[in-house]
Amino acid sequence: MLHSRIAGTGHYVPDNVVTNDDLSKMMDTNDAWIQERTGIRERRWIDPKTGDSPSVMGTKAARMAIENAGITADDVDFIIFATLSPDMYFPGPGVQVQDQLGIKEIGALDVRNQCSGFLYGLSVADKFIQTGTYKNILLIGSENHSGGLDKTTRGRGVSVIFGDGAGAVILQPTEEKDKGVLTTHLHSEGKYAKELALEGPNTGHWVDKMIAEQDPEDTSYYPYMNGNFVFKHAVTRFQEVIHEALEATGHQPSDINLLIPHQANLRISQYIQAKMGLADEQVFNNIQKYGNTTAASIPIALSEAVQEGRLKNGDLLCLAAFGSGFTWGSTLIRW
Ligand SMILES: CC(C)(COP(=O)(O)OP(=O)(O)OC[C@H]1O[C@@H](n2cnc3c(N)ncnc32)[C@H](O)[C@@H]1OP(=O)(O)O)[C@@H](O)C(=O)NCCC(=O)NCCS
Repeated sequence: MLHSRIAGTGHYVPDNVVTNDDLSKMMDTNDAWIQERTGIRERRWIDPKTGDSPSVMGTKAARMAIENAGITADDVDFIIFATLSPDMYFPGPGVQVQDQLGIKEIGALDVRNQCSGFLYGLSVADKFIQTGTYKNILLIGSENHSGGLDKTTRGRGVSVIFGDGAGAVILQPTEEKDKGVLTTHLHSEGKYAKELALEGPNTGHWVDKMIAEQDPEDTSYYPYMNGNFVFKHAVTRFQEVIHEALEATGHQPSDINLLIPHQANLRISQYIQAKMGLADEQVFNNIQKYGNTTAASIPIALSEAVQEGRLKNGDLLCLAAFGSGFTWGSTLIRW
């Protein structure tokens, strides 16, 4: 049976750096609080003048992944785009990438699984490759959070955490049995949907809320997060789903050469690392520079890990995510 391998990686983040001190000028917060709770020092927020958007950033990351895979845009035969912050309510940004890359009328699928979106997309791509349906799948995670955050003291529990950016990979088939994606695991628990959510706009009340009411006290258009609750579930589910992938393939935590957890919060990553007995060199974190970029966080981190030479031929790579939905997932990849 064919396996899928990651043949190329790429990422793009906006130039505009927003430090914790910059945030403290917009709201009642401070560098010490943010670093102690989240590990974040700065994040990138789109400068609207640049024209960056989830699809535009996704296309930039895609061009780098395509080049690194040694193919051209015309070789891409399917697009999967994961985001919670699409350029438009509909259509999703997958079709915009098809247009921006100037490629033929291939299929473009949009994935709406928030922080787990990249892993949900990877799992779908893996199945298409296994069945021989496609040979060069472009998988993108990209987010514009800054355009929709409550940047006042009222929203500080959420807005200090999130950043903008995009990451992309090219997945190709390999006949090397022990290489590539070894296993994928996906979960959801919809009873906690409202613990980390943005409720408006939604089809139940978007017109009346957005146009008729214009209520300045209405926070339903900003993301809501029950931070403590999310934290407790994240640390449990991350560990469970990593163990699930290890058990499915007969591996131990010590076999992992590199774990790239979704960059939710440095404290969450450090907690998982400690509980699983992993050394510092076994875990990759870059949330300090970018904040939480949701569906983009794993592919941005993966692209940087590749650039930094953190992955060697034959290494065992683990990717794991948890987020809004709740949804969570994992994969093990033999590099
Ligand atoms: C969001 C998070 C950092 C908040 O940390 P916390 O220790 O739970 O903090 P709390 O929300 O209990 O707030 C503690 C205090 O800090 C205040 N506070 C909240 N945000 C603040 C900010 N940005 N700056 C300064 N103070 C802040 C609160 O108002 C509260 O004050 P009070 O004690 O006077 O009421 C933490 O809950 C977390 O990381 N959760 C997981 C989030 C996550 O990973 N989300 C993504 C999943 S994909």
